[in-house]
Amino acid sequence: MKINDYDSIERHWLHARKALPPKDRELFELFLGTLPINSKILDLGCGHGAPIATLLATGGHKIVGIDRSEKLLGYARNTLPEHEWILSDLEDFEPADSYDGIVIWDSLFHLPRANQLTLLRKAAASLKPKGMLILSSGGSENDIPPFTDQMFGHTFFYDSFTVNQLLQHCSELGLNVIKSILLNTPDGKRDKGRLGVVLQKSKK
Ligand SMILES: C[S@@+](CC[C@H](N)C(=O)[O-])C[C@H]1O[C@@H](n2cnc3c(N)ncnc32)[C@H](O)[C@@H]1O
Repeated sequence: MKINDYDSIERHWLHARKALPPKDRELFELFLGTLPINSKILDLGCGHGAPIATLLATGGHKIVGIDRSEKLLGYARNTLPEHEWILSDLEDFEPADSYDGIVIWDSLFHLPRANQLTLLRKAAASLKPKGMLILSSGGSENDIPPFTDQMFGHTFFYDSFTVNQLLQHCSELGLNVIKSILLNTPDGKRDKGRLGVVLQKSKK
């Protein structure tokens, strides 16, 4: 059985992912409020384009979405055909452009930490000066080893830096924290917590 295969849970995922939870939404409002009009936004792990790409497109921005799930990307193409949708593993994707904003929402934690760092480096390099990045990651202060969990009967891989490690890596990449909030608090059991961060690239 493949791991991290959203194609296998397509229908469940479409049903489950219709709206952003209130705290996520609040952070996206902040992100949206800082973007110049007609921004070009890279959405890394965009899924089926809802609710995030739809929200950004409604704000008048142009989206380039990357995802490895052919089926989810198919929905994004159908609902937002005037935007660009690229079928690719995040690990293989080489941004060829520069962006006003980048979204890495609920996808970073599906990669091993070393690959997360590579992706963050690529994201920072492809952001314009003062460009904005919004991302989510695990929300634990403690170092939790990578693990797998079941979602709709399929196996998914998760890994995250601790909150401090992640923010330190971002700072070293020239990404300054505008707002960081704990979206879910770890319960010491299955829920390892979720952090949401809005960052801005320094001028250079
Ligand atoms: C939890 S969903 C989040 C989708 C969307 N960002 C959202 O918040 O609604 C995770 C997405 O990341 C994609 N993904 C996970 N690992 C990936 C990888 N290595 N390369 C490309 N996409 C990946 C999945 O296919 C899925 O669409």
